[in-house]
Amino acid sequence: MRIDIGSGVYRATRWAITGIVYTFQRLFGREYDLESAIHIGDALLARCHTWRFFKHPCPNRAPITVCGLSFPSPVTIAAFKADIPSLNFWLALGAGGVCVKTMRLHPASGNPRPRVAEISIRNTRCLINALGLPSDGIDTTLQTLKTSPVLSTGRPIGLSIYGESLADYTALTQRIIDAQLPGPHYIELNSSCPNLGHDTNDSTTSLVDIVNAVRALTALPISLKLSPMWSNHTLDILISSLSDCPDIMLNSGNSHYQTLDALGLNTHTLSMPGGGITGTPIFESTLARVKTLSRYQLPIIATGGISTPEQARAVLNAGASLVGIATGVVFDPYCIVRINHHE
Ligand SMILES: Cc1cc2nc3c(=O)[nH]c(=O)nc-3n(C[C@H](O)[C@H](O)[C@H](O)COP(=O)(O)O)c2cc1C
Repeated sequence: MRIDIGSGVYRATRWAITGIVYTFQRLFGREYDLESAIHIGDALLARCHTWRFFKHPCPNRAPITVCGLSFPSPVTIAAFKADIPSLNFWLALGAGGVCVKTMRLHPASGNPRPRVAEISIRNTRCLINALGLPSDGIDTTLQTLKTSPVLSTGRPIGLSIYGESLADYTALTQRIIDAQLPGPHYIELNSSCPNLGHDTNDSTTSLVDIVNAVRALTALPISLKLSPMWSNHTLDILISSLSDCPDIMLNSGNSHYQTLDALGLNTHTLSMPGGGITGTPIFESTLARVKTLSRYQLPIIATGGISTPEQARAVLNAGASLVGIATGVVFDPYCIVRINHHE
């Protein structure tokens, strides 16, 4: 009952905020821009995580241990939210861990707005984004994180990083080491953002070299956020090359790039010609990817299109240790509670 009320309140509030923002934008002759509504939502989420009403326990069973990290629930929040205070809300609802949105070495503004939109594919609601990795820069984010209650929950925190060169990755890793964060944490290498126009695992920035360089600096667990664009052959070469590297986890995937044209969307939907699809339409591909990855005997975080207990169970049965959710918690964060109830 409390789940249904909380979920209803969240969805109604989100609907109202989005409606008001769109009405305002239309009245003033502006493009629809979901990001304005997101900022209002973040401010609200950051306030209500301490309310008892929004607190839900993690499953009453032994935690899941992955690379020495203890997750009290298999549900984790995928890297997508830069606003650290709102991460507390999902932890209060029972998420077993959260990954902070990808940090860059220096502040970066990302692509022009509008750069995220809610769309429908085959009558299913989902998101498309072309944010282009905006970041306040790793120093600012780590500083905010250090004083945040996010770390005091004792649940593992992912620190997603993206660099343009091997030197960037070593500098980013060094910043994380120097920060001496008090809670359990791991590094996630975002090698798969589809909105940057190039592939991290190319001849100039080999992902294997990046992983080895990061591993030479720290014993922290490393999660590899794999691209859904890479073939099974590419994955095989990559993962086999890392067989001697300890404490690696595989994050099954990122958003799926599509052009607005191919999706039949208005060119004003985003400032860019296309963006990454996230949410339910990419679930089947996530499941297939988890089955492929399961042969490598490495822990897997299944990410992409998961929002129901049935979907979570399907990827866990297919070999994943954890699930990562982004779009699902945007539409209804009570998916965390519902999945936990079934685990
Ligand atoms: C608005 C938005 C921003 C995102 N930003 C990042 C990011 O900074 N780094 C990253 O690795 N993935 C990012 N993602 C991808 C998510 O982490 C996740 O891989 C993807 O959304 C698929 O999961 P989902 O279907 O549950 O949303 C972003 C996704 C969304 C929707």
